Amino acid sequence: MIHELSHPLAKTLINKLRQSETDALCFRHHVAELARLLFYEAFRNEPLTGTNITTWQGEENFGFIDERDFILIPILRAGMPMLEGLSDLLPEAASGFLAMKRDETTHKAVLYYNRVPDCEGKTVVLLDPMVATGGSLGDAIDVIKAKKARRIISLNLIGSPEGVSAVEIRHSDIDLYIAQVDERLSSDKFIVPGLGDAGDRAYNTPE
Ligand code: PRP
Repeated sequence: MIHELSHPLAKTLINKLRQSETDALCFRHHVAELARLLFYEAFRNEPLTGTNITTWQGEENFGFIDERDFILIPILRAGMPMLEGLSDLLPEAASGFLAMKRDETTHKAVLYYNRVPDCEGKTVVLLDPMVATGGSLGDAIDVIKAKKARRIISLNLIGSPEGVSAVEIRHSDIDLYIAQVDERLSSDKFIVPGLGDAGDRAYNTPE
């Protein structure tokens, strides 16, 4: 199921990313903030686990999110600043890494690095700023499903209607939280109006 954020702060941050004058440092910063907003929305009903802690009034029991249930998996490169934002928020969560590059002729995703830990029984949070054709995300979900995750949630910043619906059709059991679904996919498979190539924008490589 697709969940698009409606919060004005999310829209403002997305529109800052669209601005050409937003430099790489600010770009990565806004991407990290958006990842936190998406996580907040995606896990607003997450149950808390009661834990005994020592407080200034002695031992007491309070609820915490079970951070060790989570595996955060960015799709490199562009997902890295999302991981930075979330691993600060959930320091006890594990991380895994998938790297994919879209072949610019066929527009198909090519997996070139897979360092994902055992996911059995875990909640995997996939992190990729962009869903253009949806091919990269669809393939990444295949990889994680094969690792027997208990639950897979995808956090994405911006997508095309065509791309998000392709993911929804291919993986109808997955919840996808996205800050902005844009107007369309162009004939050369870019999100329009979009924000350019998030990996290039974040790391100062030519577009
Ligand atoms: C971009 C983006 C997604 C993918 C989306 O990555 O970060 O991973 O393309 O396209 P799709 O939905 O059509 O598969 P890119 O290939 O530019 O690699 P990068 O992250 O290294 O820049």
